Amino acid sequence: MKNIVILTGAGVSAESGLGTFRDKGGLWERFDWRTLATPEAFAANPEEVHAFYNARRENLAAAKPNAAHDALAGLERRWREEGRGDVLLVTQNIDDLHEQAGSAAPLHMHGELLKSRCEDCGDVFAHADALSVERMCAACGRAGGLRPDVVWFGEMPKGLERIYDALAACDLFVAVGTSGTVYPAAGFVQEAKMAGAWTVELTLEPGEVSPLFDERLYGPATEVVPRWCAAA
Ligand code: APR
Repeated sequence: MKNIVILTGAGVSAESGLGTFRDKGGLWERFDWRTLATPEAFAANPEEVHAFYNARRENLAAAKPNAAHDALAGLERRWREEGRGDVLLVTQNIDDLHEQAGSAAPLHMHGELLKSRCEDCGDVFAHADALSVERMCAACGRAGGLRPDVVWFGEMPKGLERIYDALAACDLFVAVGTSGTVYPAAGFVQEAKMAGAWTVELTLEPGEVSPLFDERLYGPATEVVPRWCAAA
């Protein structure tokens, strides 16, 4: 039995046309996250924040999973069908390309772009089109409180207890397309190593925590991920 934890970042969706954050021309190079991705920004400029996420929903509507998403979904399926152990796919991404590729239940630790939440009543609902301050919550009828159900800077990531339990029991940790700059995700490799897991990094170029990995494969995700999954 070999339990696997996979962590993906924006690099796995880069070749599907969705931007990364810290590469050249990345989202945080073109936009200031301080005015778009914090609770304070939303309180001060809700319309500006809605416009930013509405544009990202539009980009996502035109995006398709790529060979890396497909290969990870295939690995999950093979592991399950052959009874080889548990696979937990944790993603920092808010897109749904892992789901579209067939991954059973990705854990979106930074939330999901296609879900929205009412800050007045807490209702969370699937939502693929534009949000605005005028839009009324279908559950409580109030307007002005709807926000993307994503985790902003300064907010608590989702599913951490489940993630740390899986890391403590994993034999193999694979990080795909993440720069290793944002915690707690960047610390997962350490947790896995403490559990005695073999750790693998599949990304375009070395990131901040690359030296911690046992095995590193660099290149576009659509090349290195299928290659690594086929040999797993
Ligand atoms: N194939 C594989 N990896 C790629 C590709 C590609 N085609 N293109 C870029 N990458 C790699 C980059 O080398 C980098 O290591 O993907 C990583 C992207 O890093 P970031 O832009 O920092 O994205 P990510 O690590 O997911 O950011 C983590 O930061 O802003 C927050 O919430 C946001 O979830 C995000 C978190």
